[in-house]
Amino acid sequence: MITPTNTGKKVLVVYYSFSSQTNNLVQALCSGLEKEGVNVVRERLQTIRALRFPIGSIGGTLRMMVETFLRKRQPIEPLTKSAFDHFDLIILAGPTWSYNPSGPVLSLFDRDGSRLFKNKPVLPLISCRGYWRMHWWGLKSLLRRREARVVNLIVFSHPNPEPWRTIGVFLKLAGKVPEKKSWFSSKYRKYGHTTMQVKEARRFGQMIGKDLIQGGANLNQLNFDTAVARP
Ligand SMILES: Cc1cc2nc3c(=O)[nH]c(=O)nc-3n(C[C@H](O)[C@H](O)[C@H](O)COP(=O)(O)O)c2cc1C
Repeated sequence: MITPTNTGKKVLVVYYSFSSQTNNLVQALCSGLEKEGVNVVRERLQTIRALRFPIGSIGGTLRMMVETFLRKRQPIEPLTKSAFDHFDLIILAGPTWSYNPSGPVLSLFDRDGSRLFKNKPVLPLISCRGYWRMHWWGLKSLLRRREARVVNLIVFSHPNPEPWRTIGVFLKLAGKVPEKKSWFSSKYRKYGHTTMQVKEARRFGQMIGKDLIQGGANLNQLNFDTAVARP
């Protein structure tokens, strides 16, 4: 295996993932960055109270939807000390929860937002079933209030058509296996992101890495709004 040259560029990827979708994208993105010789520090947010996926019941899923709509915080464990080092870029990744950033990301802003993001270039990555705009507006405002420099946006939506996408996510959260139900499986093949989208995340990682090596001045011009990422 050829080891990439270390370019001296450093990226912090701070992220939360409940059902592994953001995690799959993040791991691919990081491998793309690393392929370009970028040093990546991954910081996965851990909730203090364990959150189990799937939630396992319809009542529990409805409760979580209401709580997340009201922007309920999910307290998180402290970040590792190295998260506060100098980085050329911070990628902040996580799912949309009821049109908002997830509870652990909201807790991150409350506790560490100013220290972590002040005067830093930040690139948000959103994993969602398809409704991310309110999340994005809220996130942008949270970052700007912490004086971060928001350089661009990456969004990955689930590729299933509606209404199956919404029903499928709900059933999956409630602990059902919709992709195995005969009447549903022809409309809903898989929960979450596809292998093609994960590959696209890797390609985005390489694009970001290449730009950082040239000084990172054009991060705001990189096109992440592709038909694969946002079908
Ligand atoms: C409580 C809850 C609320 C959600 N609300 C939304 C939403 O408002 N819009 C959307 O597009 N997806 C929504 N989703 C779907 C997730 O954003 C999506 O499944 C995402 O890919 C999950 O990423 P993760 O596995 O990293 O947590 C919601 C999921 C959960 C658990």
